[in-house]
Amino acid sequence: MFDTYQQIFQERADRYHAAMAAFPLARRQEFELAVARLDLQPGCDLCDVPAGGGYLADYLPRDDLFLLCLETASEFASQCPRNTDQRVLETALESLPLGAGSVDRILSLAAMHHVDDKHGLLKEFSRILRGDGQVVVADVEAGTRTAAFLNEFVDRFNSMGHKGHFIDAAFIDDVDQCGLSLKAVDRPPLTWSFASRANLIDFCRHLFGLDRAADQDIIGGAEEYLGLREDAQGVSFDWQLVYITAAKD
Ligand SMILES: C[S@@+](CC[C@H](N)C(=O)[O-])C[C@H]1O[C@@H](n2cnc3c(N)ncnc32)[C@H](O)[C@@H]1O
Repeated sequence: MFDTYQQIFQERADRYHAAMAAFPLARRQEFELAVARLDLQPGCDLCDVPAGGGYLADYLPRDDLFLLCLETASEFASQCPRNTDQRVLETALESLPLGAGSVDRILSLAAMHHVDDKHGLLKEFSRILRGDGQVVVADVEAGTRTAAFLNEFVDRFNSMGHKGHFIDAAFIDDVDQCGLSLKAVDRPPLTWSFASRANLIDFCRHLFGLDRAADQDIIGGAEEYLGLREDAQGVSFDWQLVYITAAKD
């Protein structure tokens, strides 16, 4: 029924966005860790690709930045905030609609595992970066419990399935072949957090499109794959990502 992840996200974007809007702090650490690695300087042109519904804007540490959201799915692009410091462009990833050397920083969060031509996208990142530019790619790494959660649990309980092609050693080795220089690879401790089990269930059901899952299935998946914990502050689970920082050659 759906041939590409672009089509799948076109279909799923409204529920994904509803989850992010209802629980904007659930993935707070994930965004904060990305921003900390971007080394944002005064007046930076920052490009978020693909940007989903433009969630990065809430985490920018200064107000003298210009944020450009590139997004492949119109359902997501229409949700991205627009103002004088924030533009949105709808685009395919094969050829980004920006000139050579036009941005200072790029973030690509939680998307590379859906991209077939990762080498081509990294080359596009190098092309659009200015001379002293920097890119952060943060995504799920092959062999982690998060990868298993997505390709086993989400694949089973989302009727459209989930077949991620996760970050591996070959991808990391390839960074230096794309006009970029690898600066850092790190795997910081990271959790997604919720006030209650009910909030966790609601968020995961919509973000991951778990149309086949009962509430208890979602709790069971979080326990089995992600180390669900509960304390006085609420509930949380581990969300393992690798953060890859590279500079323009
Ligand atoms: C999990 S969302 C991440 C969005 C946002 N960066 C975030 O962290 O919430 C995946 C994003 O990748 C885009 N995407 C996924 N697969 C794609 C593909 N094969 N081609 C183009 N875009 C794709 C979707 O439109 C969506 O914006």
